[in-house]
Parts: sequence; structure tokens; C-alpha cells
Amino acid sequence: MALSELIKTLADGEFHSGESLGVALGVSRAAVWKRLKGLSALGIEVESVKGRGYRLAGGLCLLNAQSISAAISPEAQPLIANLFCLEEVDSTNQYLLLEHARRGDVCLAERQTAGRGRRGRAWASPYGQNMYLSIRWQYEQGVAALEGLSLAVGVIVSEVLEQDFGVTGTKLKWPNDLLMSGRKLGGVLIEVGGDLTGDCAVVVGLGLNVSMSQASVGQAINQPWIDLLQAGMAIDRNELCGKMISRLIPALQSFPQLGFLPYHQRWMARAAFLDQSVVLTTPARSVSGVMRGIDRGGNLVVEVENELQVFSGGEISLRLA
Ligand code: BTN
Repeated sequence: MALSELIKTLADGEFHSGESLGVALGVSRAAVWKRLKGLSALGIEVESVKGRGYRLAGGLCLLNAQSISAAISPEAQPLIANLFCLEEVDSTNQYLLLEHARRGDVCLAERQTAGRGRRGRAWASPYGQNMYLSIRWQYEQGVAALEGLSLAVGVIVSEVLEQDFGVTGTKLKWPNDLLMSGRKLGGVLIEVGGDLTGDCAVVVGLGLNVSMSQASVGQAINQPWIDLLQAGMAIDRNELCGKMISRLIPALQSFPQLGFLPYHQRWMARAAFLDQSVVLTTPARSVSGVMRGIDRGGNLVVEVENELQVFSGGEISLRLA
């Protein structure tokens, strides 16, 4: 990407004059100005002050493959095939669903041009501000052995934030939205390729809001959201990625043997809306009831007219009544 040199120079958060940027990049001041305009299109806010120059207020912590590797635990290191650290990609999940990808491949990107969320939604993915992480794993047992995997991933993400970074108070909204103060902090999207009844490839995608400016998303997110910075946590993205990978990869490896049971209580301890009135929407109907938690397979349990009903499936959404 032609803008990457400019972004690297401005990432320090200091003021740079148009002239010094021109010298550093070997281009005219007019060309610098044009490139600065290009940054807004990527969702990067540039502050301009007369007499001082341009800066990215607060700076940017850019992804660095070496720093990420250094933060990955010795247990997880041998399980990684490739660590792809990209500046721009359509979707990190899509990248690992392609033919070239292998078990243990990890993909991170500064920006996604077609990031995707659950239920066919887009996932806003401005440059350099969040975490867009995908991991590919391979299973011989087919998808039936993976019941509850997406909930287990949510548990791990919440635990890493708490245990490694001191971020408390995250909640899991069934099936795997990560909430904080009732607002969306992140989400998990699992996609499967290959033979669903046998040898299949699973790509686990995680989007986590780290320090996303309102200006960079505009109207692209139609629900209340929060990021770690708003929650008072200035977190190094490279360390965050390294720690997440360290916990997720071994969990993906052991999941067919262990199943969802070791995660059940941990999920319940973080459940959003527990014992509260909720409305559940499936493609066919809406159901009102009281959220009673999940069963041993990770399916949603809702009390409807004094009777416990179990719900599963990716097309269901849940909200407070
Ligand atoms: C959700 O809808 O809550 C799930 C969002 C998942 C977004 C992540 S970002 C990394 C990976 N690549 C994608 O295109 N989507 C997932």
C-alpha cells in the first residue's frame, strides 16, 4: 500500500511538518497533502495544526510480526504453521479459507475491506485500530465434534483480557458476542470448509475493538459499541494478538478430545442477560422468555411460559426484552 510509509512515520503520534514528511517520503508537499487525504479514507484521523504540521493524536501501535511472535507462548509456537501479518485484506477469515492455507495458519490484518460478521453482516475494520485475527485448524471428525467451539472461543477471549490485561467485566452474549457495559466489544465468526462430515477446515475469526475512533466507523455500526481504550485500557495490539494466539491455538487442538464441558461453567460465569427477560429472533419467529443459560453442548436455554426450551443455530439473535 502506497500510504504505508506515511502511516509508519506518523505512527509515533508526534507532529510532522508537511516539508519534513515530503523529505522523508521523497515526494513534493502537494503529494504529501494528497496522501494525507488518503488516510481519512482508511479511517485514520489526521490532526492538522497551523505552524506545527500533522499528527495522529495518540499515535498508532502498528502490527509487527516479530513483536507478536515474541508474545506467543512456547506451548503454542510449534503449533503455528504461518503467521500472516497483512496490511490489507478483504477478510482474514476468507484468506484462511483459500486453497493455500494450512492447519495452524494465523492471519492478522491492519485493515479489512470486506470484514464479515455473523448473519451476513459486515464487520467495520478501520486501519490500525483494532484486532482482526483468524486461525485455521483442521479436524478429521467433522463439525459434529465441534459443538460449542465458538462459545469456548468467547470464554478464552474474555479470560485472556481479564488474566493477561486486567480487563474485568466483559460478558458473553449467546452465542459469542463479547460485551462490556452492555455494548459490543468484539465478536467471533467461525467458518468451515471441506467435508462437514469428515476432514474439514475450520477458520476461527475474532474481531476485537481496541481503540477505534468514532469518525473512522461513521454510520457503519448500527449498535452500541465500545473499545478497550474507552474502557480505560491502552493495550499494545501486538501483545494482545500474541496472548490471544497463545491461548486459542492449544484450545483448538484439544477441543475434539475435551469438548465443551470444561468451558460450560466458565461461560455461565460470564453470561449476559442471565435470568433476564429476552426476545429471541429466529428466521421464522420471535420468542419471548427468560434467559436461563446454556446446556452442556452450549445451546441456549430459555424459559418460555414455565417451560425450558433449547435453541441452537447460527441464525438466532438474542436481545433484552
Ligand atoms: C460478529 O458478527 O460478532 C462476528 C465478527 C467477527 C469479525 C472477525 S474480524 C476477523 C475475522 N475476519 C472476518 O472477516 N471476520 C472475523
